[in-house]
Amino acid sequence: MRKSWLRWTLLGVLALIAAGCATYPDQATTRQMAEKMVSGDFTAPTPALLKRLAQDRSQQICSKIAGAELTQAEADEVLKLARASIKYPASGKLMGDWKAGNRLAHDGAGDRIQGGRLEKRKENGGLCQNCHALAAGEINVGNVGPSLTGFGAQRGNSAAIVKYTYDKIYNSWANVPCSNMPRLGATGHLTPEQITHMVAFLIDPQSPINRK
Ligand code: HEC
Repeated sequence: MRKSWLRWTLLGVLALIAAGCATYPDQATTRQMAEKMVSGDFTAPTPALLKRLAQDRSQQICSKIAGAELTQAEADEVLKLARASIKYPASGKLMGDWKAGNRLAHDGAGDRIQGGRLEKRKENGGLCQNCHALAAGEINVGNVGPSLTGFGAQRGNSAAIVKYTYDKIYNSWANVPCSNMPRLGATGHLTPEQITHMVAFLIDPQSPINRK
């Protein structure tokens, strides 16, 4: 008597689990539903801003859910796309003016939504200070990214370092796929010329970044 009660209960539980699995949408469908809900509810002051909701191929790869890790092939694809996106200034010179770079690195304005409008500026700021420590002794700095204090003093100014730094700022995913550093040149936030100024700011021995 007791045994058959147990058997029926077990069977019932198994049937419930099977029914649950059969009706629960798979990961891709759940994701589609969630994306539809988010985009359906999203409003923007100008329709052009809604384009930001459409992910490019790299963002799709980088948005894997539930902490899933990238496969080697996915990481390679993000690196390849990022490297292909990089444009160099017409002059071919990657080291600009460190003074202009210093100003831009501390400037967090441009492309913000303020009072329901997209902020328009002649020149966007570099946002570096939001995430990085810059010259020694500056107090109001971010720590999302590593400290850049002494960057050029530690690494020197070889052509390879200059190119690495330019590429990093232009599209940070060119060497760290899906990093939390924005792709400042590739998204059009900064121009190639502005990036050359920030390269000089990080590398020039005269720059406050490299002074004790
Ligand atoms: C939203 C935060 C954020 C902003 C804004 C940002 N970075 Fe980064 N940065 C990071 C993170 C996180 C890393 C580490 C991961 C990586 O290398 O991509 C990083 C790494 C770097 C590196 C590589 C450091 C190394 O040791 O080789 C450089 C150089 C750099 N950032 C420069 C800049 C400059 C210059 C700016 C402004 C134009 C900037 N970053 C803006 C977050 C940011």
